[in-house]
Amino acid sequence: MSWFLNKKVWVTGASSGIGKALAQELAQQGASLVLSSRRQDVLEQLKSTLNNPEQHMVVPLDLERYDALAEIVNKTLPATGQIDILINNGGISQRELAMDTNIEVDRKLMDINYFGTIAMCKAILPDMIKRRSGSIVCVSSVAGIMGTQLRTGYSGSKFAVHGYMEGLRAELHQHGIQVLVAAPGYVNTDVALNAMNGNGQAAMLKDQNNLDGISPKECALSLMQAIERGKHEVIIGKGVSRIAPWIKRLSPALTRHIQRKYTDG
Ligand SMILES: NC(=O)c1ccc[n+]([C@@H]2O[C@H](COP(=O)([O-])OP(=O)(O)OC[C@H]3O[C@@H](n4cnc5c(N)ncnc54)[C@H](OP(=O)(O)O)[C@@H]3O)[C@@H](O)[C@H]2O)c1
Repeated sequence: MSWFLNKKVWVTGASSGIGKALAQELAQQGASLVLSSRRQDVLEQLKSTLNNPEQHMVVPLDLERYDALAEIVNKTLPATGQIDILINNGGISQRELAMDTNIEVDRKLMDINYFGTIAMCKAILPDMIKRRSGSIVCVSSVAGIMGTQLRTGYSGSKFAVHGYMEGLRAELHQHGIQVLVAAPGYVNTDVALNAMNGNGQAAMLKDQNNLDGISPKECALSLMQAIERGKHEVIIGKGVSRIAPWIKRLSPALTRHIQRKYTDG
């Protein structure tokens, strides 16, 4: 019997890539899902293909409009009863040099990847704290551990998630709530197509590193294993992107060399 059977899981960014794979695998293992992102039609279509579609709900939301998230969560919770696991997966990347990136793009990266994430946590946590149970999960990135060229604003937004969650984990320990930050390396999704260029338009890049990365399903299954095992942090991936965080701990000089070498995008 799966550990996820009958768990209520809210997945943001469920319309594509890692979030979609999470939805498929979680539903397969008997979880009831709240599926969120901006594109309601895509989420409805996904829901209809999942195991036990009647068990799942579609709740469209825009993480950039983080002021509206508390109301959306408060309207949804009575229908779900509770949320056992919140997976903050929705996000957007960047492919542009820092000096060619409009500061509004840097702000948008922070709004979606950081403020959208913490607003979801603030809205869902009171119920978890009352029940003394739950898991807060964030899909960060290896770029949130190691600054990466062409993704300065993206790296900044994901580093911020790591710092926030480290403090939140300490605060929530007494309430029995897990805080897990996952740092995937390259995963074969549309992340580079959807990433913003310096003007905030979709970069529409086919990034070979992503194409050569692990599948969204592999990423989803590794993340689910880390949730089940009660982990605090997990690095997911293969090749350089998997070992880079370890290299950073061991050798800052080698890390700077790798950072200068990786100019892909
Ligand atoms: N792929 C990788 O190599 C990789 C590596 C490390 C970390 N990550 C992280 O993994 C997460 C998922 O990315 P992915 O690779 O699966 O990319 P993706 O295929 O582009 O999916 C991104 C998801 O985020 C949602 N999203 C984007 N902006 C949003 C907004 N303003 N409000 C609500 N939802 C929004 C999108 O849905 P809508 O368009 O329907 O809103 C989509 O479901 C991201 O946080 C990303 O930073 C990815």
